[in-house]
Amino acid sequence: MGAPVAGRSGTELSCPWAMPDTVSVNVPAADRRAFLAERRAVSIQRFDALHSQHYDAHWAAIGAVHADFIARLTGLARAGGEVLDAACGTGKYWPALIAAGLRVTGIDQSAGMLAQASRKHPDVPVRVLALQDLQDTADLHGRFDGLICVDALECVAPEHWPGVTSGLAATLRTGASAYVTVELRQSPLPPPADPRQVPGEVIEDDSYHYYPARPQVREWLNAAGFAVSQQADNNEYWHLLLTRP
Ligand SMILES: C[S@@+](CC[C@H](N)C(=O)[O-])C[C@H]1O[C@@H](n2cnc3c(N)ncnc32)[C@H](O)[C@@H]1O
Repeated sequence: MGAPVAGRSGTELSCPWAMPDTVSVNVPAADRRAFLAERRAVSIQRFDALHSQHYDAHWAAIGAVHADFIARLTGLARAGGEVLDAACGTGKYWPALIAAGLRVTGIDQSAGMLAQASRKHPDVPVRVLALQDLQDTADLHGRFDGLICVDALECVAPEHWPGVTSGLAATLRTGASAYVTVELRQSPLPPPADPRQVPGEVIEDDSYHYYPARPQVREWLNAAGFAVSQQADNNEYWHLLLTRP
């Protein structure tokens, strides 16, 4: 038996399946780790080679609620301050952040997505960096007046959520705000495609997504030192404005 993956159920669920109190992986821990490494490698490869080429053509539009939360964040950030766009992709939100007088830094694990962002915004500093590695990236800690992590956390596995939320929080100055989205899945999940999956994980079209229950997300955010200040559901996303008191 492999090591258990912690997961807690609660009353407010964002999805039609309930996570049991403890989710065990019925494979050796090494197999589970290999599965997660494979899925991340596939994700990087697909964003590098495939999605980066047509992302802006298909996904450039910004929904009203996404735009509203970006405006809320820019309204809270110190004038002229620095904002980290974590898992920035092609830099879709940079025009709005720059127009608000903020200085942007982008990180993403896909060099291909960052290349598209840099083509449009050559002056914005970018770094190939995974969300999972933020907690160990000391030069980014305590530096930012704001943070966004939009439409990317669905790529993060349950085991990685605590480290990712801690890493995001670590980049912020005390009192700074963050805008993050968590994908909601209303439709039933397909049966597991791989015996190394845990509940809430989906592999579709070779893409890995994980849909955590809301109480679990709140726990992870609280443990990282975030407080939820505003939230909304829209367009299959839970939009969260967070503060780091
Ligand atoms: C759907 S795109 C969203 C990009 C951008 N935030 C936006 O809203 O347009 C997801 C992005 O997350 C990045 N990503 C996925 N998992 C990541 C991880 N673990 N660390 C860093 N970037 C990641 C992908 O490479 C991709 O650029």
